[in-house]
Amino acid sequence: MPAALPDASPAPADGALPAAALAELGDRPFGVYVHVPFCATRCGYCDFNTYTAQELRGGVSRDGYAAAAIGELALARRILGDGAPPVETVFFGGGTPTLLPADDLAAILRAVAETFGLAPGAEVTTEANPESVDPAYFERLRAAGFTRVSLGMQSAVPHVLATLDRTHTPGRPQAAVAEARAAGFEHVSLDLIYGTPGESDDDWRASVEAALEAGPDHVSAYSLTVEPGTRLHARVRRGELPEPEEDALADRYAIADELLSAAGLRWYEISNWAAADDGRCAHNLNYWRGGDWWGVGPGAHSHVGGVRWWNVLHPSAYAGALGDGRSPAAGRELLDEETRRFERIMLETRLRDGLDVALLRPAGRAAAARAVADGLAEAGPLAQGRLLLTRRGRLLADALVRDLVD
Ligand SMILES: C[S@@+](CC[C@H](N)C(=O)[O-])C[C@H]1O[C@@H](n2cnc3c(N)ncnc32)[C@H](O)[C@@H]1O
Ligand code: SF4
Repeated sequence: MPAALPDASPAPADGALPAAALAELGDRPFGVYVHVPFCATRCGYCDFNTYTAQELRGGVSRDGYAAAAIGELALARRILGDGAPPVETVFFGGGTPTLLPADDLAAILRAVAETFGLAPGAEVTTEANPESVDPAYFERLRAAGFTRVSLGMQSAVPHVLATLDRTHTPGRPQAAVAEARAAGFEHVSLDLIYGTPGESDDDWRASVEAALEAGPDHVSAYSLTVEPGTRLHARVRRGELPEPEEDALADRYAIADELLSAAGLRWYEISNWAAADDGRCAHNLNYWRGGDWWGVGPGAHSHVGGVRWWNVLHPSAYAGALGDGRSPAAGRELLDEETRRFERIMLETRLRDGLDVALLRPAGRAAAARAVADGLAEAGPLAQGRLLLTRRGRLLADALVRDLVD
């Protein structure tokens, strides 16, 4: 959840949704995202909506967070009524969800189950910072019904971790994978970042290899974005650190794809690889396929039936709204058909399942044919009505999407 909110119309104080949006509930999988906006320290590259204890000074504390989140779930139930289907995926993200006691995460998960019901085999993930967890913590999460852990490893190389301001020591993420496995987690993911200033191809190769040695069944690899307003951005602007170069980023992506594929992890979204279909992140797949979800917590975004809304950013404002019986929503957008088509093209093009070319107009179909001729998409799937990117196509996906939406 980035810390800036989009411009759009205000949300109604009671958070009520149009009947047309509610009528779509159940057409697609329904998920719950829980944003936990706390971190021990802020990494210099990160612009997510998160607060250190010092930044919260005098305002709300972490202690009241679970009660506020559970309050929002009660509001969600009132707004969605009986139409909400059982929840297929729950995802605790941050910030650092694992800064909260495991019992708080368990209480929120219990409230999700009591409010909407959990579908059989529901996926329940938490993000975790490697230094904020231990074997007992994983055991409590597993006993509470969590099924998946996603650990922020980022790199195995000390100077890269230092540039990113990460506080864990090299080796700690891999140890955390072993602890999660020992606690009974079948699904464990590692997040990596490439393109950090000062990182070499060999550094990156070493990080991917170290991640693979830990035996996760899922890896996410993101290119470092230099976000305006971050300490990293200021350091790049002052010339202290070089900006990541496009060519180097493309090389790093190719290295990742080669090493991960060779180890049996197959890409299923441009930045995500999994060992098997049941190792994919079902929660994120639901976002990418235009599904419905309720986002709980400060700054969390939600989408139901073509209505997107987002909560106030600050934990005090969030708790204050819920305490006064108001919706914490700060704004919302009603997505028209054209916007929904554009978003489907943008997101589904990034998936290994491919884009249904029936969504394209004649100019977009011509662009899809050109993509095959240019080696950006596979010929066979296009003949079957799906646009599926090659590795080169994945590197140029943003530019390709601009042509496809014409
Ligand atoms: C916002 S974090 C939350 C989870 C946890 N606190 C962590 O750091 O792993 C989720 C993922 O987003 C990544 N991320 C945050 N800012 C980024 C940026 N500017 N560029 C690339 N990845 C970023 C993090 O490194 C992390 O893997
Ligand atoms: S720990 Fe994660 S959420 Fe917190 S500042 Fe660092 S990258 Fe952002």
